[in-house]
Amino acid sequence: MVELRVNGAAHALDVEADRTLLSVLRDELDLTGTKYGCGEGQCGACTVLVGGKPVRSCMTPVGSVAGKPITTIEGLAKDGALHPLQQAFIDLDAMQCGYCTPGMILAGAALLAANRDPTDEQIAEALEGHVCRCGTYQRIRAAVHRAAEVMKGGPR
Ligand code: FES
Ligand code: FES
Repeated sequence: MVELRVNGAAHALDVEADRTLLSVLRDELDLTGTKYGCGEGQCGACTVLVGGKPVRSCMTPVGSVAGKPITTIEGLAKDGALHPLQQAFIDLDAMQCGYCTPGMILAGAALLAANRDPTDEQIAEALEGHVCRCGTYQRIRAAVHRAAEVMKGGPR
């Protein structure tokens, strides 16, 4: 039995502790916003936040995050309002197929929580290892800057 706290809800799950967090989120909790890309920690598609920090869920045994607060893309909106970075992705068309998007947004949201005005270099560093096969990197970077502006109370 593993106890998980996902998006503010507690779950007691009858799963092996060495199963990946990715598989438990998708197959037991039906949280399919978290994507399976490479399965080897190399693409970032499976990124979720654990205690506010980005973690590659394909490489994370579910038992290692028992009891810790986990946020998936389904839990990022608050009180019916999208996170500013989710809104910026929509406004700036920062996705094509969208497969990399949940991981990009969660990693970007973690960056913005720690740094309200990241530089291009800091954004590149935070999103390093997140692969976008559609090549939308420039729009993703612009979306992070837009969200930073909005979070500082600037123009939308
Ligand atoms: S699926 Fe986890 S890093 Fe690629
Ligand atoms: S939008 Fe298609 S992989 Fe990034």
